[in-house]
Amino acid sequence: MHTQEQNNHVKILMVDDEENVLLSHHRTLRPHFQVYTAQGGRAALETLETGGPFAVVISDIKMPSMSGIDLLSIIREKYPDTIRMVLTGYADLDLAINAINRGDIFRFMTKPCDNKDLIATIHAGITQFNMIEATREYAIVKRLQKGLEGTLRAFTKLVEFRDPYTAGHMDRVAKIATGIAEHLKLERDQIEALRLASLVHDIGKIAVPAGILNKPGLLNDAEFTLIKAHPLVGAEIFKTLDTEWPISRIILEHHERIDGSGYPNGLTGSQLLLESKIISVSDVIDAITTHRPYRQSLGSRKAIEYLQENSGKLFDPTVTSTAIKMIENGLIPDS
Ligand SMILES: [Fe+2]
Ligand SMILES: [Fe+2]
Repeated sequence: MHTQEQNNHVKILMVDDEENVLLSHHRTLRPHFQVYTAQGGRAALETLETGGPFAVVISDIKMPSMSGIDLLSIIREKYPDTIRMVLTGYADLDLAINAINRGDIFRFMTKPCDNKDLIATIHAGITQFNMIEATREYAIVKRLQKGLEGTLRAFTKLVEFRDPYTAGHMDRVAKIATGIAEHLKLERDQIEALRLASLVHDIGKIAVPAGILNKPGLLNDAEFTLIKAHPLVGAEIFKTLDTEWPISRIILEHHERIDGSGYPNGLTGSQLLLESKIISVSDVIDAITTHRPYRQSLGSRKAIEYLQENSGKLFDPTVTSTAIKMIENGLIPDS
């Protein structure tokens, strides 16, 4: 939010039919705002067209060729974010109601208006303008996020065609990881990045032959090397997304272990993102508790045992204990 001192770069427009009124306002307001003046409605619309965007427009009402109410209702249509105010010498109730209804105005002021009040009212208008702008930006970010989610889900679909297990698995890991992150009270933003990364964390498996992916029994060294490349491949696919959120970094680190025994880089606890520590635990829980083509689910008891055994060795102890509590409370059901 802008402070009052910062508002001296914010554009405001004063509209009146009398030049000397405009001059006097200009003098009063210039130290506080970037003040534009327009003598009459037509001039005002021109200034809005060429000099905008304006945070606030303050208009007189009785003007010869275009009334202030007509002007403000046009501004409401064309520049809905600009805050509209009236400053008039003729304050009767009908006029005020008309202005409020047609111009959707923020304040109705009468002349003579105390300079201090006028300045304070303009500051309030600017605050309102900034709020509207911030809400609009937030809506845009939300829309972009939705688009991103759609894109990531399309990738999941792509995998589903050749490996249904991996697709379902990523969805389940996203749910488990989000649950753990919420219990650990991560920021909303972090949780969202973790959820999106989880939805595609094994996408790199598209580079691994299907026969190897679902091979029952042990893999040979060459096969395992191929599997071990999937975090790198996945991270590479989503590298360009890491402007705001560490999506590709979480993908890259999802098989790392806090003692450095994981892959692909053998990073240790302090080098790993908390989100990566959460996804690695979630990944293992789902792998243990899910039916595979070559074996039944090992059950949540087994998952708890495995986490207990490896807490502080392979997995972060805080994440592990949170996950265990969630399994015990039935928050992570067997699938
Ligand atoms: Fe993986
Ligand atoms: Fe996985």
